[in-house]
Amino acid sequence: MKISPKMKKALNDQTELEANASNTYLAMASWCEITGYEGSAAFFYVQAEEERQHMLKFVHYLNDLGVSAKIPGTKSPASNFKSLETIIKTALNNEQIVTKAIHNMVEIAQKEKDHSTYAFLEWFVNEQVEEEKKFETVLQKFGLIGRDKLAINEIDKILNTMSAIPIDTGAA
Ligand code: FEO
Repeated sequence: MKISPKMKKALNDQTELEANASNTYLAMASWCEITGYEGSAAFFYVQAEEERQHMLKFVHYLNDLGVSAKIPGTKSPASNFKSLETIIKTALNNEQIVTKAIHNMVEIAQKEKDHSTYAFLEWFVNEQVEEEKKFETVLQKFGLIGRDKLAINEIDKILNTMSAIPIDTGAA
């Protein structure tokens, strides 16, 4: 089975986007850990792992098609953050960028009648709905609970609970 050069590039670009997302979440986890936000650190370490699994899905998909996947170098992410709320906002923004990229690939697949890639991307379309919802929910908490030290402590606990929810990597 063949995919177009355009689709191949898009899939390889997505591999890089997922790898960078993983690194960004790792930097956020590390900052949370050093700042004393243990629950948030646990949450972002899990999140980083999840993004690595996403990256691997693209690598395997390309290799399964006999198109050798390009393993990306990763950019060094920001390592200093203003606040936990800033981190969540940045994470939501990043997820929105990923969603756009996934939707763009779906459109290419539709246009090119590439049914295999279209089917492969379906999992990611659903995953992005969940990812955005997750960060939107956390972001809402700042409005609901507050931004003082006690409120942040509560939100940190919520993130800790969320980190314990098993990851659906879609792996069979
Ligand atoms: Fe793999 Fe959270 O996008």
